[in-house]
Amino acid sequence: MKKEIITRSEQETFNWAFDLGASAEQGSVFALSGDLGTGKTIIAKGIAKGLGIDDEITSPTFLMMEIYEGRFQLYHFDLYRIDNLEELDELNFEEYWFGDGVSVIEWAEKAGSRIPDNITKIALEWAGDTERRIRIEYPGN
Ligand SMILES: Nc1ncnc2c1ncn2[C@@H]1O[C@H](COP(=O)(O)OP(=O)(O)OP(=O)(O)O)[C@@H](O)[C@H]1O
Ligand SMILES: [Mg+2]
Repeated sequence: MKKEIITRSEQETFNWAFDLGASAEQGSVFALSGDLGTGKTIIAKGIAKGLGIDDEITSPTFLMMEIYEGRFQLYHFDLYRIDNLEELDELNFEEYWFGDGVSVIEWAEKAGSRIPDNITKIALEWAGDTERRIRIEYPGN
């Protein structure tokens, strides 16, 4: 199933993402794509909160990955600095993406074909200073 929404504030995006986290299942993967500053990290924060995680979610820098403890483990990735698939493969992230926690992957477009099938894909676009167009493709078709 595909859906498109427009949010009009950071808070609205956060609240929408909270519900994704609240209904996430073990092994859920959220692949986020879109330009700088479109709201990928806001969505990661909302999903984390929905998973019951109260820690502050920051952009992962160390090894481009951060793990948090919630209803399930959250694996938060930021692939911005990945330049090619060889580089990505050396990091063995697929272990996590096919693992038991919930994965949120910022800049998922950098991982191309390595992203698992049957996941939730979220594409963000700037639609004004405080507006964002969010296209979501749910798993299962
Ligand atoms: N409707 C909206 N939804 C989400 N964020 C919004 C919205 N309107 C304005 N913003 C602002 O846009 C910015 C989004 O920042 P965020 O760090 O989430 O982007 P990002 O996609 O993760 O960028 P990066 O690629 O640099 O990691 C924030 O400053 C937020 O306040
Ligand atoms: Mg970010």
